[in-house]
Amino acid sequence: MIECKSARQVGLMRQAGKIVSGALRLARELAVCDVTTDYIDTEIERYIRGNHGSPMFKGYRGYPRSTCTSVNEEVVHGIPGPRRLREGDILSIDVGVEYKKYMADGAITIPIGKIPPATRRLMEVCEKALNKAIEGIRPGVMLSRVAGCIQEYVEGHEYSVVKDYAGHGIGRCMHEEPQVPNYVSEELLANDVVLLSGTTLAIEPMICMGSGETEVMENKWTVVTKDRKLSAHFEHTVVVTDTGVEVLTVE
Ligand code: MF3
Ligand code: CO
Repeated sequence: MIECKSARQVGLMRQAGKIVSGALRLARELAVCDVTTDYIDTEIERYIRGNHGSPMFKGYRGYPRSTCTSVNEEVVHGIPGPRRLREGDILSIDVGVEYKKYMADGAITIPIGKIPPATRRLMEVCEKALNKAIEGIRPGVMLSRVAGCIQEYVEGHEYSVVKDYAGHGIGRCMHEEPQVPNYVSEELLANDVVLLSGTTLAIEPMICMGSGETEVMENKWTVVTKDRKLSAHFEHTVVVTDTGVEVLTVE
């Protein structure tokens, strides 16, 4: 069952989304050479709480921190720690906020100092894939169209999409129905759904330079590419409106 949210519910998610967006803006300022991911996480938690939100990841299945910080070959769910960012790194930072029982989820990939053109292109293709998929949304569009849009754009630029993780419905819980994969499969087509006004989704392409296959590190959280090639990740929470779509993770 996909719950269509009321205007009141969307209003609270919009408030949560503004805090996510502000936190990601802060991350862009903080993420520079020699800073630790631990420091960035601490400052973002302070920002979230200062804006009357709570960090939705903290304590989720025992997850210890408020953000996920995934560097270079780390795809998602990197745990903030003593690692210092270095020139040429790319940092995916993922932030979830709960505000008055409603949730929003967003992520960006940030270049640290000067990065090689090939790395910049990976990031740009990921962000563009997300934005193109969002632009195509209106009531009546099938979920598989969103997935297909991301896959076509990414593979058309000779990168791979991660198939082991997906976006998701969101609202009262961080993960609600439906799953929002970044590629089209038989399974998706068999379970396809129509997007209706009031449907709220977190769309999050994770894309790679290599095969896109992943494994989980010994800490049981950090997802890395098997071939250790670079990966980028962008995410927005959106709501389908009567006439189109609204991005909720904006200020
Ligand atoms: N955006 C991620 C997701 O939707 C963040 C979850 S991190 C966790 O799964 F630590 F909370 F699991
Ligand atoms: Co998410």
